[in-house]
Amino acid sequence: MKKQKQILVIGSSGQIGTELVEELRKIYGNEHVVASDIHPPVNNTGSDGPYESLDVLQGNSVLEIVRKYKVTEVYLLAAILSATAEQSVKAAWRLNMDGLFNLLDICRERKIKLFWPSSIAVFGPGTPRINTPQFPYMDPSTVYGISKLAGELWCEYYFQKFGVDVRSLRYPGLISYKSQPGGGTTDYAVHIFHEARKNNKYECYLAEDTVLPMMYMPDAVRATVELMNADFGNVKVRSSYNIAAISFSPSELVKEIKKHLPDFVCTYKPDIRQKYASSWPASIDDSAARSDWHWSHTYNLADIVEDMLWHIQ
Ligand code: NAD
Ligand code: SER
Repeated sequence: MKKQKQILVIGSSGQIGTELVEELRKIYGNEHVVASDIHPPVNNTGSDGPYESLDVLQGNSVLEIVRKYKVTEVYLLAAILSATAEQSVKAAWRLNMDGLFNLLDICRERKIKLFWPSSIAVFGPGTPRINTPQFPYMDPSTVYGISKLAGELWCEYYFQKFGVDVRSLRYPGLISYKSQPGGGTTDYAVHIFHEARKNNKYECYLAEDTVLPMMYMPDAVRATVELMNADFGNVKVRSSYNIAAISFSPSELVKEIKKHLPDFVCTYKPDIRQKYASSWPASIDDSAARSDWHWSHTYNLADIVEDMLWHIQ
């Protein structure tokens, strides 16, 4: 008989955590998934199972929770994202790196399986922008991207040297309606829906032709669970897997929204985030994930827009 998983999600009140906890509890049962964050969940999400207030930078507190719940699997989501990180470079580096180290060490000591997300921000101006390969030249130009690239290398190191079963995905920009995004460059693709519903207009901080890789949250959550459940031997990339769904520009998104809200108006006023977006890929080659553990996406742009507008009223 398979041992029952005991899961800890750190950073559970954020954009991904909110939905990942919900899905993991559906699969493994509420009491087997412990949500934790430095900030309490908004709207009581996640209140159907255990919740612990936790600062990932306090290694001893993390260890205490791990012991208390006999944790076998951790999803480490606590991080400072690209746009916010540029305003607080050292704090971002500290959280993104020291948080990961705390977990890599605990997982090594207690033989715990670890999920840690990377990002398309690991790529930079020198990386091929179209169909970006799994192992291209990488020169991230943001502190967030640098911390993710360093994190990928540390994950690979802990796997090679200590046998830590750490798994990772380079998420593209994620679109969702259940919680607000946390300070990323791709967040326009979430805010635009709220503003479209509220005011029928939006001022976009990226230029209209800035194509970026994006994914709907249900696909991202499913990819995460599938990677964590993939057979050990099938997980061949131990830095982080490219994964992709669709790519679009703000003007393509606006065109799709206008099919539902014909009077919607979007104006463009690029700010500093344009620089980060311009250094990232427009599309991603995720063939390694597709062949190693059979990843495939479900939602295209029309599906996403329809579902987002239906849920955001
Ligand atoms: P988010 O900002 O929405 O959530 C992060 C959560 O971490 C927040 O709830 C925050 O309160 C919590 N947190 C912050 N400091 C903490 C600390 N010291 N201890 C414990 N919790 C703390 O971010 P997200 O969008 O859910 O992203 C989760 C992970 O996925 C991050 O590593 C991020 O880099 C990565 N990622 C996200 C996207 C995206 O589009 N959302 C894309 C690529 C990668
Ligand atoms: N969506 C994230 C950001 O824009 C990419 O990791 O920061």
